Amino acid sequence: MTQDAAIGIHDLSFATTEFVLTHQALAAHDGTDIGKYHVGIGQQSMSVPAADEDIVTMGAAAAAPITARHGTDQIRTVVFATETSIDQSKAAGVYVHSLLGLPSSARVVEIKQACYAGTAALQFALGLVRRDPSQRVLVIASDVSKYDLGSPGEPTQGAAAVAMLIAADPALVRIEDPSGLYTADVMDFWRPNYRDTALVDGHESINAYLQALEGSWKDYIEQGGRALGEFSAFCYHQPFTKMAYKAHRHLLHVCGHDTDAAEITRAIGHTTAYNTVVGNSYTASMYLALASLLDHGEDLTDKAIGFISYGSGSVAEFFAGTVVPGYREHLRTAEHQEAVARRKPVDYARYGELHERSFPADGGDHPVPRETSGPYRLAALSRHKRIYEVR
Ligand code: HMG
Repeated sequence: MTQDAAIGIHDLSFATTEFVLTHQALAAHDGTDIGKYHVGIGQQSMSVPAADEDIVTMGAAAAAPITARHGTDQIRTVVFATETSIDQSKAAGVYVHSLLGLPSSARVVEIKQACYAGTAALQFALGLVRRDPSQRVLVIASDVSKYDLGSPGEPTQGAAAVAMLIAADPALVRIEDPSGLYTADVMDFWRPNYRDTALVDGHESINAYLQALEGSWKDYIEQGGRALGEFSAFCYHQPFTKMAYKAHRHLLHVCGHDTDAAEITRAIGHTTAYNTVVGNSYTASMYLALASLLDHGEDLTDKAIGFISYGSGSVAEFFAGTVVPGYREHLRTAEHQEAVARRKPVDYARYGELHERSFPADGGDHPVPRETSGPYRLAALSRHKRIYEVR
């Protein structure tokens, strides 16, 4: 195993939405026993974007504290990962680049492969920093998860953005080689270009996730990765938090380990605090799990963490990171807790209106109501152009 000691996550910050819908309100609306949501899928609430929020405003809000702390001089690349893109051509990161006042001497791209794209962005960034350790890469993973109202996927929606600064000599987590990789052509979840909401075969998607986890783990071991027992915690992609429990039980079983419930909770219990109240943030989800672990876990100095990134369709990657001594001084725990606590509850009717909102495609001037109290907003769609502003 090569210990790529010197490159990894130097800073991590996340942002979410103005509004929140509790699963209690959803259950009251659809007549579901709340136990199915709180226990069965492990979700308490889900973030709901205001009319003037989207992947760009969330991405910029997540990244702004990072550029405020570290400056922008060394950032020569911005990689924006999303599967809920707002344009078929222009990268959402270009709007963020402008909102944050990043240097013009930078490259900005958007990449996609369902929820896996955040990890593709991270790996791309690691390669660039390895080539020139004086450069830093801003990785942003931002998504709004949307299924049809009344569909089985509805309780597994959510929205958030994670921004990470990838750098040499990182302050938080060193990312290691090797990675375990897995790709299989499955139709478990997809969204054709003409749809706003995802299509999903829910139960098939759970099987596809477990299959991909197993495949990426086996490849990780074949590539010379760490033994299972060396890991102190595991950050899984969390479409709903119960999925992480299902996945870890499966991994322990595949490795011939005891699937003891207490052991599973010890390994992943601290990773679910944000996802259980934010919901599925697709590309950002696994990195919200990392934020939760670092913000809530016991001292993880020099401990190995396993990362399991899954994107429907499907691609998965298993890789490891080691937590850097002194990491606690660089965390943003209070800001993260505030990002979650500041959301305003909406009732089902209001959430339904926001869910069904779309812009006319007539090329006219369409101002957007002022709703968000976040730092950036989508002000209008005018002549087919999205107009963003700093609040
Ligand atoms: P469903 O059919 O509504 O629910 O689908 P269910 O009947 O399977 O029940 C869910 C769980 O609640 C079950 O537990 C029930 O027993 C339990 P399990 O057997 O799984 O352990 N339950 C209760 N527990 C306590 N008290 C009760 C009660 N009632 C039932 N009263 C499903 C659930 C997640 C499939 C659905 O919400 C869905 O389709 N979600 C969207 C798809 C999804 O999230 N898939 C996850 C894997 S794919 C993935 O992660 C990729 C993704 O993020 C996209 C991307 O990559 O871009 C989605």
